[in-house]
Amino acid sequence: EQTGKSGYDHFMLKEIHEQPTALRQCLSGRVDELSGSVTVEELDDIQTPETVQLVACGTSYHASLYAASLLRDAGIPANAYLASEYATSTPPIPDGTLVVGITQSGETADTLSALRAARSRGAETLALTNVVGSTASRECDHVLYIRAGPEIGVAATKTFTSQLVGVNLLVERLVGQSGGGTRELVAALRNLPGQIQTVLDESNAAEIVEEYGDCSSFFFIGRGLHFPVALEGALKFKEITYEHAEGFAAGELKHGPLALVTAETPVFAVVTGDDERARKTIGNVKEVEARDAPVVVVTDGQSDAERYADAVIEIPETNGRMAPLLANVQLQLVAYHMAKRMGRSIDKPRNLAKSVTVE
Ligand code: G6P
Repeated sequence: EQTGKSGYDHFMLKEIHEQPTALRQCLSGRVDELSGSVTVEELDDIQTPETVQLVACGTSYHASLYAASLLRDAGIPANAYLASEYATSTPPIPDGTLVVGITQSGETADTLSALRAARSRGAETLALTNVVGSTASRECDHVLYIRAGPEIGVAATKTFTSQLVGVNLLVERLVGQSGGGTRELVAALRNLPGQIQTVLDESNAAEIVEEYGDCSSFFFIGRGLHFPVALEGALKFKEITYEHAEGFAAGELKHGPLALVTAETPVFAVVTGDDERARKTIGNVKEVEARDAPVVVVTDGQSDAERYADAVIEIPETNGRMAPLLANVQLQLVAYHMAKRMGRSIDKPRNLAKSVTVE
């Protein structure tokens, strides 16, 4: 087993470090910088849908939230559903709806059930998956492979990042390509593996967590496309440290969760760019700072968020669609280093399974 880890202490750390390679595989032959275009061979015959419904569980649900947001920004009504809820209470499916199941394994029972419910109501379905020949890939009308390679660690890392890149390819393919926008996106996608490598080489996550070893509640906040990253940061953290962690939409903090914030609850805030969204999140950072919470800002340094932080985790500047991916890699490292410090069973956390085949 040690050989399989290529010298890393855990599969999770190995897989975190495999992300640049995984993304190059995912992008290979699909993005062309010269023409600024995206081609997904598997989806040659797909039509632009009227609406999109996304179904998924766990980490993949966070990828669905990101996808729904991108689709809505591109003018396609889209909603993300927890697969277990969708299967239990299937929403109306208008004509022209594409139902997308995001599942790295392609075998999660809840997601398969949701996709079957959609199919039985006549919807067109698509699986975004890592596993060739998986049940989801066989049962859906279309499939887009994320090509992340095998993932052994129970906590999903490289498959999540690859899902987000796969979602970007899917959205470009579905909405048709809009000249300058696609060209900029293609350039950002091509830069992404190198930028993730920079994050991996320079991350200070291991030092940051040293400060917070005595805390037992951790919060993660983000706005817009950083909201799914906040949820994922918290999920990863609780899965492998067994400490209480929750992710919130930054603006929602004041509507309840703020009651939990004290000097003993570190808050990780993702703030990139320097726009209205960043300014609003900084407003939320000030709210927790005023309650004496230790604040760790994950930022590209464009705003003055650092002024309100006790600690800063930096990411390189990039396109607004890619920044969440870079921030997420830092939060993967935060979770990993905290769990390692606590001596947890990182690759096989208690009570969890890599793929859950019961509903
Ligand atoms: C399990 C795993 C999670 C994963 C979820 C969905 O609960 O522990 O890490 O996100 O299943 O898996 P899928 O294969 O459908 O993406």
